[in-house]
Amino acid sequence: NGIRVFDPAYLNTAAISSKITFIDGDKGFLMHRGYPIEQLAEKSDFLETAYLLIYGELPSKSQSEIWKFEVMHHTEIADDLAKVIGSMRYDSHPMSANPALQGRNLYIHDKSIMNKNIIRIIGKSATVAAASMRVRMNRPFIAPRSDMGFAENMLYMMDATSDSENYKPDARLAKALETLFILHADHEMNCSTAAMTHVGSSLVDPYSAVSAAAAALYGPLHGGANEAVIRMIEKIGKVENIPTFISAVKAKKELLFGFGHRVYRNTDPRSKIIREVAETVFTACGHEPLIEVATALKDAALADPWFVEKKLYPNVDYWSGLIYRSLGFPLDFFPVLFAVPRVAGWLAHWKQAIEASNPKIWRPRQVYVGPQVRDYVPIGDRE
Ligand code: CMC
Repeated sequence: NGIRVFDPAYLNTAAISSKITFIDGDKGFLMHRGYPIEQLAEKSDFLETAYLLIYGELPSKSQSEIWKFEVMHHTEIADDLAKVIGSMRYDSHPMSANPALQGRNLYIHDKSIMNKNIIRIIGKSATVAAASMRVRMNRPFIAPRSDMGFAENMLYMMDATSDSENYKPDARLAKALETLFILHADHEMNCSTAAMTHVGSSLVDPYSAVSAAAAALYGPLHGGANEAVIRMIEKIGKVENIPTFISAVKAKKELLFGFGHRVYRNTDPRSKIIREVAETVFTACGHEPLIEVATALKDAALADPWFVEKKLYPNVDYWSGLIYRSLGFPLDFFPVLFAVPRVAGWLAHWKQAIEASNPKIWRPRQVYVGPQVRDYVPIGDRE
């Protein structure tokens, strides 16, 4: 109707209606399909939560068995894809391996292959991620184990010592990673899910849309924040340096990574659960040396009126990086550990949008503030 609302960075614009995830930012509440995140983190597993997100209900026993069987039997990747990942530079960021999922020109118009693509993408993401980690370690790929749980298999494929056939990941660590995967599986219309939905609205295949979402997630204001938190804490180095850092944040010379959220203005319910997971991992893996600085920095920020007034609290990325570090993952692998489970959320939103009764291509408008119309000036006449 010609009326346009100017809303930079979509601060207030809802672009879809959704039945998947609900966040009450003031209360610090998160639920998927009606189930509070605390219950899912305690009682569910990642693949069951992924099913819930994508298909709308918790699976029955037989649905669960078929779903898990199919995803875990689609964790194998083709030799040519393994070669592409194997040919990456040893020091290339592992997030750049994700687009290697591309290359299947599968037309989304064919809805009969939608479920097959969903199963393939979830299963293969874990293997692509693990393979990119093995490149970094200069070690051969480990074939996936379909008889293991999702996170357990990922640990199995990545671990430096898993060349031995009898190797089995520590059950406490597999459970901890599974919980982290549940916590990261979806978070409504965040930057990467918006990218997935936006790119998917052109009816491109979901492999290409997942690549776009992975690129969005990689940035330090989004999923790359877990990596940025550790770099920040390492740079601060000692508890004595915290006041100087806090002053730099207040002077807008630094960002306090792992703090703040577009929707949560009170607390991020995931960060409380993650803190508990951290204790399990630290007990299994030994003391994490950065924890003192991380805890003192968090306490200093929470006690400072500048942060309180701006409603800045620790988000999910504040603690997850410390857990991944304690688990022995290289720093630049942290966003990958966020991306693998978030694939489930991306696909749930993509499927919902594609199946909507009247799907439209996403095409935001803009407010033009450039020059008014004028005549072309030949190069010799320009100043
Ligand atoms: N450190 C310092 N100042 C901050 C921070 C921060 N982490 N977050 C927000 N602010 C300031 C911001 O500059 C603004 O100041 P002012 O009112 O003077 O302009 C004020 O607080 C309000 O912030 P906002 O503009 O409402 O925040 P936003 O919704 O535009 O951005 C955010 C949200 C997550 C990008 C931001 O908080 C941030 O940059 N955090 C650090 C990066 C991070 O931890 N990202 C992970 C987010 S959670 C998981 C995920 O999505 O991946």
